[in-house]
Amino acid sequence: MSETPQHQPNAEVKVNDGSTAIHADSKIDHAASINYWNSVPATPGAMLAMLGDFSWYTRIDLRGSKNFLAKVRRLIPALPRDQKLALGADCGAGVGRITEGFLSEVCEVVDIVEPVEKFTQALKESELGGRGVIGDIYNVGLEAWNPEKKYDLIWTQWCVGHLTDSQLIGFVARCRGSLNESGLMVVKENQSTDPSGKDMYDDVDSSVTRTDAKFKEIFEAAGMDVVKSEMQTGFPKQYKLLPVKIKCQTSANEHRTGASSLSEFGDSWGVSGCHEDFPSPSVHY
Ligand SMILES: C[S@@+](CC[C@H](N)C(=O)[O-])C[C@H]1O[C@@H](n2cnc3c(N)ncnc32)[C@H](O)[C@@H]1O
Repeated sequence: MSETPQHQPNAEVKVNDGSTAIHADSKIDHAASINYWNSVPATPGAMLAMLGDFSWYTRIDLRGSKNFLAKVRRLIPALPRDQKLALGADCGAGVGRITEGFLSEVCEVVDIVEPVEKFTQALKESELGGRGVIGDIYNVGLEAWNPEKKYDLIWTQWCVGHLTDSQLIGFVARCRGSLNESGLMVVKENQSTDPSGKDMYDDVDSSVTRTDAKFKEIFEAAGMDVVKSEMQTGFPKQYKLLPVKIKCQTSANEHRTGASSLSEFGDSWGVSGCHEDFPSPSVHY
């Protein structure tokens, strides 16, 4: 079976006044994204665009993530509180900024998923690469990643804007199938501030910034339950950064037979095996 989800965006939708609107995700061009990321230095700072120059930014981000995960672990009794999780995945990992500053503290081993080889090469050659915490490295985009292991924690941050809506549903659905029974998937992303409530396209790196409502629709379509979400706080207001929301999902308990919203995304999500039961640079990063 073809494991690669097809890009089937409904590029045009009718709006109330009879005109048509273009879905932001229909503009995503993977080759342009990869070109962009290949053009930036393979350093932790470059992962955060211009904010990489500000070390406080990554400190606040990582602290927010640690606190969030600690709260989630208290919520879910089946999760060991004081023990490291056996296997994590850092999705859209770049040079491993998050694994280095956080995931390596909470997981024994972290697999890396990142399409840009110069980033993973830098990671392998770094001190982090020599620490024995890095597991397998997959040089693919998330739209083409088919997890073959069971993970305790899949961390996905500042990268799903490179996937179309349909690809993102497919990715989340495949992650759902690759979580251990008490496994968690966290998505930490910027939120759209578009006054008319639309996803925003950024042509610098060919990505979209989604609304909260769009994320909700996508997670539901993929059969995931959001068990906890919170806004990242602590970024100084004068930088006028996009709001960042952290969401933790677990596999939905209810058997899903096909929500009406799913048809909107086409049927080619690359959902495999047992899961077939459900159908910002500038200052963005
Ligand atoms: C803003 S950086 C974030 C890196 C890392 N998550 C962090 O927070 O430090 C965006 C990352 O997404 C990666 N990326 C680009 N296209 C992707 C795709 N289709 N799937 C997964 N990652 C992608 C880029 O190569 C880059 O490493």
